[in-house]
Amino acid sequence: MSRPTATSTNLSPTSVCPAELDPARLPVHVAVIMDGNGRWAESRGLPRLMGHRAGVEVLKSTLRLCSDWGIEALTAYAFSTENWSRPGDEVNSLMTLFERVLQKELRSLEQEKVRIRFLGDLDGLPEKLQNLIDDATERTADNSGIHFNVCTNYGGRRELVRAAQSLAQRAAKGDLSPEAIDENSFSRELFTAGEQDPDLLIRTSGEYRISNFLLWQLAYAEIHVTDVFWPDFNANTLKQALLDYQGRNRRFGGLDPITP
Ligand code: FPP
Repeated sequence: MSRPTATSTNLSPTSVCPAELDPARLPVHVAVIMDGNGRWAESRGLPRLMGHRAGVEVLKSTLRLCSDWGIEALTAYAFSTENWSRPGDEVNSLMTLFERVLQKELRSLEQEKVRIRFLGDLDGLPEKLQNLIDDATERTADNSGIHFNVCTNYGGRRELVRAAQSLAQRAAKGDLSPEAIDENSFSRELFTAGEQDPDLLIRTSGEYRISNFLLWQLAYAEIHVTDVFWPDFNANTLKQALLDYQGRNRRFGGLDPITP
């Protein structure tokens, strides 16, 4: 992504891809489970919301690093269909935080040519947030820079059921033959339609779980788990994740390494 000269305090200086990384073998698409905001805050005697606020700053800097280093897509798990079960205060604070971030950051996302999309059951979000999401999606739709996907009210199982329902409805109407359903047509029904599957999944805070995230799309992703809490994730921990990725042999079920 080519970025304009930094004229606003929102824009950090461009950083180059670290020399230890092979720029020709970077993942095209990185997915992140940003875990540990609450524990990061609690370990400092702060309210959990402070952890989420710090998490937003880290997400912004991770997006810039990915873009600067040549990664084409970043997909972040911001709010799952299961997160509604958290205390009402925390859910409300998160929704307000999402709204504020969108209001505050849209201009710099536009300037930096980021294409932002929100993946999930957006109808279930507060109306104000839905309007901000629609505006941000529309205003950045033609941008040529990094694809930034924010999974919000997202659940992998729900996404798969929704895709199956959509295909079944088309088949019931006679618009689609059941035999014509294949992996490509199924993928096109997912929120990620048109996006290459993630090559690398990073999960912070040392938890070895997928947590209902991108269940279909992560089929062949390499998984990197780091012990750091999300608000402590930085250029160095991103580099470590990418070095780990570059050390893997991706065989996609075959015997020989394949570069997708
Ligand atoms: C997981 O930490 C994090 C979340 C549920 C929220 C993450 C959301 C953001 C960083 C904001 C992104 C916003 C936009 C608009 C892009 P946790 O609370 O589960 O941490 P814990 O496991 O330590 O309790």
